[in-house]
Amino acid sequence: MAKKVSLINMKGGVGKSTLTVNLAWQFAGLRKWNKKVLVVDLDPQFNASQYLIGVSKYEEIVKKNIPTIWDVFEQHSHTPGKGKLKALAPESVLYNVVSYNDGSRIDLIPSCLELAYSMRNPGQKEVLLAKLISKIEEDYDLILLDCAPTESVLTTAAYLSSDYLLVPVKPEYLSSIGLPLLVRSMEEFIDGPYGDHDLKLAGVVFNATSEYSPEEITAKKEVKSIAKQNEWYIFKEEVSYSRSYPKGAREGKPIFKTSYARTSQASKFHAFAVEFAEKINL
Ligand SMILES: Nc1ncnc2c1ncn2[C@@H]1O[C@H](COP(=O)(O)OP(=O)(O)O)[C@@H](O)[C@H]1O
Ligand SMILES: [Mg+2]
Repeated sequence: MAKKVSLINMKGGVGKSTLTVNLAWQFAGLRKWNKKVLVVDLDPQFNASQYLIGVSKYEEIVKKNIPTIWDVFEQHSHTPGKGKLKALAPESVLYNVVSYNDGSRIDLIPSCLELAYSMRNPGQKEVLLAKLISKIEEDYDLILLDCAPTESVLTTAAYLSSDYLLVPVKPEYLSSIGLPLLVRSMEEFIDGPYGDHDLKLAGVVFNATSEYSPEEITAKKEVKSIAKQNEWYIFKEEVSYSRSYPKGAREGKPIFKTSYARTSQASKFHAFAVEFAEKINL
């Protein structure tokens, strides 16, 4: 069975999409792991989809009406005049990003802007993703869900589809702002109708760190105290600040293949991936 992990923080711009995509590349692309990875893009702003496949391929998805996460949540919606609904075939939403000879691969369930509108009318949609994933998870070792920074039915859908949460934090001014919101969101989930779903917090990872910044030291202290109150693990390995991350996103490449990325950056990310894999028993 696949390990299912949501990357979440109620703050935007902390590296959820960057880490989702780079973890996918690490676990599928490095010989050491050779995993089958599925990335589920749950953010209507579809950054992870674009980071993974590049802008032009993404535009093709939109132009050719290739199924996305929207189809998962809207599979039971009735369009007047369109006749009987056809059941959604789970494979139809899996977009292959890369396949290697040894069978390892990355697939993507892409996101799209319409997802935002779909959420205005939540109905019972939160269970649909977990149901779909239960039908395909045997085909994967790891499923990464890239979340949006706002609380919605998508958050519940992510929790229901996950065994673990991974919380990236950029240690800078206001960095701790999303965390109390996340605590509340998790508490509401546990108190709600799905409270017996087993959901663990894998940990908090500091992203885009640099050395010797006083601001960063203050921010880390705040985050550490919130983590302690909630008994959250903080990963020992951090992901350091590097211009190679945005550059890699533009090139559609993982950090270990981005042109001119310093090997020290790539190996720092690798060290985090190792610690993460241990933590979730991958
Ligand atoms: N370690 C890093 N070093 C430098 N830039 C980073 C790093 N992580 C993320 N970024 C950049 O920060 C911005 C926000 O990251 P992103 O992953 O899209 O955040 P989120 O998904 O949490 O909104 C992007 O432009 C991304 O390239
Ligand atoms: Mg994002």
